[in-house]
Amino acid sequence: PFPWFKEMRQTQPISFDQHRQCWDLFRYDDILAVLKNPQTFSSARPAVGAVLLGSILSMDPPKHNQMRAIVSKAFTPRSIAELAPRITQITEELLHQAKGKQQIDLVKEISTPLPVIVIAELLGVPPEDRKLFKDWSDVIAETVEDDSEATIKRFMERRGRTRQELDQYFMQVVAERRKQPRNDLITKLVEAELDGQKLQDEEIMEFCIVLLAAGNETTTNLITNAVRLFTERPELQEKLRQEPQLMETAVEEVLRFYSPILAMNRYATEDVQLNGQQIKKGQQVVTWIASANRDEQKFSDAEQFVADRSPNHHLAFGHGIHFCLGAPLARLEANIALPLILKHFHQLELVPGSDLKPIPSTFVYGVKSLPIQFKPGT
Ligand code: HEM
Repeated sequence: PFPWFKEMRQTQPISFDQHRQCWDLFRYDDILAVLKNPQTFSSARPAVGAVLLGSILSMDPPKHNQMRAIVSKAFTPRSIAELAPRITQITEELLHQAKGKQQIDLVKEISTPLPVIVIAELLGVPPEDRKLFKDWSDVIAETVEDDSEATIKRFMERRGRTRQELDQYFMQVVAERRKQPRNDLITKLVEAELDGQKLQDEEIMEFCIVLLAAGNETTTNLITNAVRLFTERPELQEKLRQEPQLMETAVEEVLRFYSPILAMNRYATEDVQLNGQQIKKGQQVVTWIASANRDEQKFSDAEQFVADRSPNHHLAFGHGIHFCLGAPLARLEANIALPLILKHFHQLELVPGSDLKPIPSTFVYGVKSLPIQFKPGT
């Protein structure tokens, strides 16, 4: 999508698409202005059937502030940091299974299972339910491959069924934790309190589902996109092994350069002027954050991958009131997994002749599989 983004930034940075009936925004400053103004650009989506309808992601103030404050009490950066040893262990196990082979699909063997297992453990899902959990995450991450009526119908049915199964599952877990607290996120959500207010069962369930939907595929794509970059720029592999302190800025640069989320939707709550364009009340606005992240007016050498770029005010985790709540977790997973991948896999490269298929989605950026080969490291 990057050549298209570049052209649009230069020629029509705010343009109305007649076919999709929405505005597309491509420049950093315009997108920032929208994300900073949730009063005028609402997250409440009119779309029907979306899995995330009614979740924190589509709430506006004042309801959003309340919900965000209360879940933030359960989902603290400190509780995330405590996960580091477990994330290391899970990654080591996955890498160990892969190590005996000469080539693997990174998506299937490492970058998909890692975030799913981490979230499952965080929520307190027992290991025997992991398979269920993985299947649900897959359905949530699914996109339609064609827009025929039959495909869409099947897709909606599958989603509806998954949603029911998830609701049932989490309803039971919430009830169990109310009776018998444990040291897990669901218990924390049950106990979290703000001004005497607690979360309702439905709200806790909704939030658990958001974690699956917002956290898994995005983190998978961050790790996959990073390793893909290592294969495209092999010199980076040795550099990052020699200078491990570079990893943190390199991860941020992967987020900027290959943003796992391409765009977010907003809806105008009133007629509004944006940089000379008249947006009407009710119209949909698509903020292409992956384009903002390549905006040459904001970033020098915007189309170059600069491992030690600093500062790096990318918008990959959004901005403002909806800024990604899981950013500390995603960053932690990437900063643990990528050095271990480089440690165990030397001379990483794409399996010759493999052709990378993009995930068929306009909103997420990644590949369906990443076949890599390597020499075993230490
Ligand atoms: C929100 C990106 C990982 C949970 C967001 C938003 C973005 C984003 C762009 C803002 C959406 C908007 O403004 O409409 C990402 C990326 C990730 C990632 C690129 C990985 C690299 C995670 C993880 C979790 C998570 C691991 C949780 C386990 C959330 C939640 C919100 C959110 C709960 C909603 C916050 C709110 O509405 O106040 N994420 N995310 N994300 N993310 Fe993430």
